[in-house]
Amino acid sequence: MKHLILLVFVSFTGFAQNAYNLIPLPKEVIPTQGHFVVKKSTSIGFSNAEFAPVANLLQEYLHRASTFPISAKASKSSSIQFSQNSSLGEEAYTLQISSKKIDIQAKTGKGAFYALQTLLQLMPAQIYAGTPIAGNISISNVLIKDEPRFSYRGLMLDVGRYYYPVESVKRFIDLMAIYKMNTFHWHLTEDQGWRIEIKKYPLLTSISSVRKESMLGHYKDQQFDGKPHGGFYTQEEVKDIVAYAAKKYIDVIPEIEMPGHSQAVLAAYPQLGANSDKLYKVKTKWGVSEDVLFPREETFSFLEDVLTEVMTLFPSQYIHIGGDECPKTQWKESKFCQDLIKKLGLKDEHELQSYFIRRIDKFVTSKGKKLLGWDEILEGGLSPNAMVMSWRGTKGGVEAAKQNHDVVMSPNSYFYLDYYQADPKTQPLAIGGNLPLSKCYSFEPNLPELTAEEAKHVVGIQANVWTEYISNINYAEYMTYPRALALSEIGWSPKESKNYADFKKRLTGHLPAMDAMKINYSKAFLTQP
Ligand code: ACM
Repeated sequence: MKHLILLVFVSFTGFAQNAYNLIPLPKEVIPTQGHFVVKKSTSIGFSNAEFAPVANLLQEYLHRASTFPISAKASKSSSIQFSQNSSLGEEAYTLQISSKKIDIQAKTGKGAFYALQTLLQLMPAQIYAGTPIAGNISISNVLIKDEPRFSYRGLMLDVGRYYYPVESVKRFIDLMAIYKMNTFHWHLTEDQGWRIEIKKYPLLTSISSVRKESMLGHYKDQQFDGKPHGGFYTQEEVKDIVAYAAKKYIDVIPEIEMPGHSQAVLAAYPQLGANSDKLYKVKTKWGVSEDVLFPREETFSFLEDVLTEVMTLFPSQYIHIGGDECPKTQWKESKFCQDLIKKLGLKDEHELQSYFIRRIDKFVTSKGKKLLGWDEILEGGLSPNAMVMSWRGTKGGVEAAKQNHDVVMSPNSYFYLDYYQADPKTQPLAIGGNLPLSKCYSFEPNLPELTAEEAKHVVGIQANVWTEYISNINYAEYMTYPRALALSEIGWSPKESKNYADFKKRLTGHLPAMDAMKINYSKAFLTQP
């Protein structure tokens, strides 16, 4: 009797949840006694074709890890069974592991895919290594009922400052999917490089995608490597990456920056800027360029052509048009801009930027897509369905939600993964800042300034990997992990279960899995409060 009481006690305290080391923590975890052991007789079944790819993925993991010839087939009564449950949400699932059977229910393939990710986290860590596991694959019995708190759980990768090869972008996507993130924001254009093939404007890839050299060390040091840097994605490669991400239930949102962050465009098409006689170069220094696009009819035609090609490549409903950090000096000094301001009855250059964004918004909307931009786009009125990404803290996001716009919270002080995560003296070079894992985790998207109704417009969160100081995927992983796991948990798990000490304990227990995936994560959090 004493023994039984002890077991019950263990099952109903937090201990059991910690023991499962799940990230992000599911909505409900009910531990039960016993284990499911993968055997020769284990089979995987799926009730309908939508679950076949996920069942096949599980089959591949088990096949690589065990000596058994486990198959996946259409069936209603396999020992690992995927079944449809139409009463669940789009991203929801239930996962019941008992000694005889693993029962997975979901409404969609996406829900089943997330159930698979949870199931893998319950297996020995070596399941991720893709090599045979010595001994049994034994999984603790449990009942998990799960669904995300937010529908948008994103990471951004800046490939403008450094080009990342296709394989690196895929690796970035692979890891996002493991942790149930569902949106990859691909920052494709910058002052320092344009990275996407546009058939109508070939100079964007022959000229705008290459810079003469890159900065070494911090900006204040003004050191350069003297080596050209370039690269771009062909439209075929873009389609390949978008399809690859879709298989992992990740939506890819492209970002084409305007009217700022466009010096690389001007290097190829100077007529779109202040002065067509000026010899623009793709920017070699970090920082924001004064050379910006001008609101000429020719510029709008160019951007509409570019966006038309972009929209055919990306099925995403959102097109990100940047809109951030556009210095107004050149517009102030330009007779063309000042005349346009008068002609349109605008107050100043800021209203001219709003005019610029509104025109692009109208175009994007006319094509059946929705506009997304950094919080600066809020300044001049937007289509009702335009979405705002709040990066200068949460103020822009709060304002947007109050104006009935959907919002993604991406505040720099919590979610800029190019910031240091520990004492800079102990870290490789980063842009600056101070963003330890615990601070990332402390972000709460439901802000007190919002009413319950307004808060519904906060559709999710995103962390951004700006790459001025991050020239390859190995370093990008170091900056991204484990901080992206804090984002994953804030975006997915119920607010009530948020607890940094518990997260840290689960993360520590999960490190062998990250080792098996060969993630180059930072261990700084282990010695931080
Ligand atoms: C930004 O960091 N300029 C969006």
